[in-house]
Amino acid sequence: MQNTLTKMYKPENFHLSEEGHTIEKRVQSLYYKYRYTGFELLRQIPRDAKVLDIGCGTNMWKPYFDDLYGIDPYNEAADEMIKFEDYTPHKEFDTYLALGSINFYNKEYVEMQIEHLSKITNGGDTIFWRQNTGKKLQEKDIKNMGVNNWTPNNVKYFPWDLESNKYFVDKYGFDLLEFEIDNEKSPMRYYAKWSRK
Ligand SMILES: C[S@@+](CC[C@H](N)C(=O)[O-])C[C@H]1O[C@@H](n2cnc3c(N)ncnc32)[C@H](O)[C@@H]1O
Repeated sequence: MQNTLTKMYKPENFHLSEEGHTIEKRVQSLYYKYRYTGFELLRQIPRDAKVLDIGCGTNMWKPYFDDLYGIDPYNEAADEMIKFEDYTPHKEFDTYLALGSINFYNKEYVEMQIEHLSKITNGGDTIFWRQNTGKKLQEKDIKNMGVNNWTPNNVKYFPWDLESNKYFVDKYGFDLLEFEIDNEKSPMRYYAKWSRK
């Protein structure tokens, strides 16, 4: 029990929607395991930020921000069902979430998406990442995220690390502001914060 508790991160003083937490307890608890990309994000990102949630899944962050647009090709909870690489922003954004969504296939595919990110972002924009380290999500997590019609069985994951972050930020005009272990328990994830130059 003690062990489980020390793996849970519950930040204080973050903004909530007027109704309080609006997502199910089951899903909420899933995100306590991420030290940086769980509810800690609600202390990092102001409530009035203009947020594009890339690969939003169940669009769980929507109620916590005044102006958030979630895109996801495979989840009907998205504001728009579209692949990130096919989406040209229809409005202004200053904050981007890529939480477990720019991870897939291989370096070439990820690089194509980052090149797209560099084209649609402006100086000073911030990108918050949860990055896969090459390990699959557990079945129960996939279920809880409500990613029902997206079958990751044969999908390979790009193994993010510090070197790949440095390579992409240098090549595509970003600064790497933060890089941390987000969840040390398997499957390990990294947290990264980039800023557009
Ligand atoms: C591990 S889930 C993470 C969902 C959500 N961001 C979260 O933190 O719970 C990965 C998401 O990326 C989405 N995805 C897969 N390929 C994508 C693409 N090309 N563009 C945008 N999203 C994509 C999937 O549909 C899925 O919802």
